[in-house]
Amino acid sequence: EWNMPDYISEAVARIREQVGTDEVILGLSGGVDSSVAAALIHRAIGDQLTCVFVDHGLLRLDEGKMVMDMFAKNLGVKVLRIDAEEQFLGHLAGVSDPEAKRKIIGREFVEVFQVEAGKLQNAKWLAQGTIYPDVIESAGKGKKGQTIKSHHNVGGLPETLNLKLLEPLRELFKDEVRKLGVALGLPHDMVYRHPFPGPGLGVRILGEVKKEFADLLRRADAIFIEELRNTPCELPALESIDAGAAPKNWYEATSQAFAVFLPVKSVGVMGDGRTYEYVVALRAVQTLDFMTAQWAHLPHSLLGKVSNRIINEVRGINRVVYDISGKPPATIEWE
Ligand code: XMP
Repeated sequence: EWNMPDYISEAVARIREQVGTDEVILGLSGGVDSSVAAALIHRAIGDQLTCVFVDHGLLRLDEGKMVMDMFAKNLGVKVLRIDAEEQFLGHLAGVSDPEAKRKIIGREFVEVFQVEAGKLQNAKWLAQGTIYPDVIESAGKGKKGQTIKSHHNVGGLPETLNLKLLEPLRELFKDEVRKLGVALGLPHDMVYRHPFPGPGLGVRILGEVKKEFADLLRRADAIFIEELRNTPCELPALESIDAGAAPKNWYEATSQAFAVFLPVKSVGVMGDGRTYEYVVALRAVQTLDFMTAQWAHLPHSLLGKVSNRIINEVRGINRVVYDISGKPPATIEWE
């Protein structure tokens, strides 16, 4: 039986013993794993930890602010926020192939991180939020061996950094990581957030990525998520991400939900005028392992409300569609 206070004090002791008086850097993504790793390492070594948070311009609405508030303001963690939007969008300009986009985002991420790491001259350790399933997966035991999509956040950082790896979550499963996060004082909502891919909105804007598209998508996505959180759900505990507990709302009843920007224009009417604007697709899935997934049977009233709000509030979008594809054959992300 897992005893949280004991686990934390043992983990803290192990980290202290491992790093001694050395400095550690960590790439904070805003995701659960790197956040929990940051909170744990900070508990162990305080200011010997510096986090680097790269804003690539492909984050969700207010995500940068949320990360800075939580870590820098509330927890007192040293965080360098790197505004790299222009760099990322600049390199993505004119590129529409999904794998090429992923490679660019991964490469630029390493580039930015390397520059920042180079400035921290005393850092000897690179901390990562690698969890047990990542270890299994990158050993090639979990999957068939072929890369369906290149996941840039696993093992992507170069050896030229000359840093030793610190991976304090390596033995934990996702639900354990979440419980640890709550015990370390991270907000429940943050720790139980849906997963968000490393390439961010870059894989949710089909084809070429443009700032204009990212801005529209951020707003549409925020409306969808807000309505999912605000709509009560009567489903029994089944596909809840908070395994075991009955979901309180549709956000908890889905494993992942988001909006996708389609660079396609269609005709609409608004008042007495004709519009010719972009389309947004909504995707919501239920899954336990993300290897297979079913599309979520969201209530029609919820879908209707989200559609109305997006079309009324996000000028530039005049049509909303719902994705009813399972995985397989469709993947969860559209790219
Ligand atoms: P797919 O689209 O392959 O997604 O069905 C399965 C899960 O993986 C996430 N995903 C990624 N996560 N980097 C990540 O960190 C990536 O490049 C990436 N691609 C997909 C996806 O959001 C879903 O949870």
